[in-house]
Amino acid sequence: MDLARQHGTAAASMTSGRVTGKVAIITGGASGIGRITAETLAREGARVVIADINVEGGQAVAEEIRGKGGEALAIPVDVGEEKEIAAMVERTVETFGALHVLHNNAAITAPDHQRRDANLLELDTEIWDETMRIDLRGPMLACKHAIPRMIESGGGSIINTTSNSALAGDLTLNAYSAAKGGLNTLTLSVATAFGKEGIRCNAVSPAHIESPSLAAVVPPEVVEMLRAQCLTPRLGAPQDVANLVLYLASDEASFITGQILRCDGGALSHLAHVAQLRDSDRTTNRTDEV
Ligand SMILES: NC(=O)c1ccc[n+]([C@@H]2O[C@H](COP(=O)([O-])OP(=O)(O)OC[C@H]3O[C@@H](n4cnc5c(N)ncnc54)[C@H](O)[C@@H]3O)[C@@H](O)[C@H]2O)c1
Repeated sequence: MDLARQHGTAAASMTSGRVTGKVAIITGGASGIGRITAETLAREGARVVIADINVEGGQAVAEEIRGKGGEALAIPVDVGEEKEIAAMVERTVETFGALHVLHNNAAITAPDHQRRDANLLELDTEIWDETMRIDLRGPMLACKHAIPRMIESGGGSIINTTSNSALAGDLTLNAYSAAKGGLNTLTLSVATAFGKEGIRCNAVSPAHIESPSLAAVVPPEVVEMLRAQCLTPRLGAPQDVANLVLYLASDEASFITGQILRCDGGALSHLAHVAQLRDSDRTTNRTDEV
């Protein structure tokens, strides 16, 4: 890796885009956050691989990027299957000659699966196992196969999409939150073990983001409750997460590693009662005489 690129200096950014010259794999790139991230990285100069179990959706995103003058390849993959992950990495390097960025974004968001991911007493072990297979084993396999190729490419950046569900308790989604908690720890392990070889590893932790999966799973009245928990006027959008992934993928973030960065409009930055007090126009101070 040349010094300008390694240290994120001005010389490296004189080319047109913020990730020009980089090759990036985005798992789950056919929809939602992954799709917008693939489009964003491509717009900023990366050659992108859209790796998704949704074959048609992945191809549509790749075609759209190519139609706008970008370079993109769709690779069908089930991230829980090691052979498919190994083939995804090899095909990426065969096609584009290197690998610099891995965005581990795929997770099971299907409404029928999420509805069955309840509290532990109501949770089928098949749901637990399948959640771990896709949401935790998937990113682990992708790291395992991508890291050697990234080192050969002169270094790289891994960005794991985790969730605020891993940072505080909830009434349901007990398997999902445990898988994302594991992914947070995996992020720290990868950053620690491979940092000296030029591999950075960070996690982006969204709260509720207005993506297709949110609309399919969360009732509209609950979406309003979630909006009230944000310190910003609005909920997050996929582009908010994509912007953070772009930064972490770029050499601007060359000294940032081992971080779990929340992208949540401050949803976890306040005491639990704030949203209710705001709605009731009260504070924690008594105003009457005692
Ligand atoms: N939307 C939110 O509110 C929110 C909040 C926190 C975290 N996240 C995380 O963000 C990521 C993206 O979520 P999204 O909301 O964009 O969902 P989405 O449903 O729009 O996208 C998920 C993508 O992953 C793909 N996928 C599912 N299983 C796969 C598998 N086995 N192999 C390969 N691809 C697979 C799907 O086909 C889909 O294209 C997930 O990791 C999710 O846990 C989302």
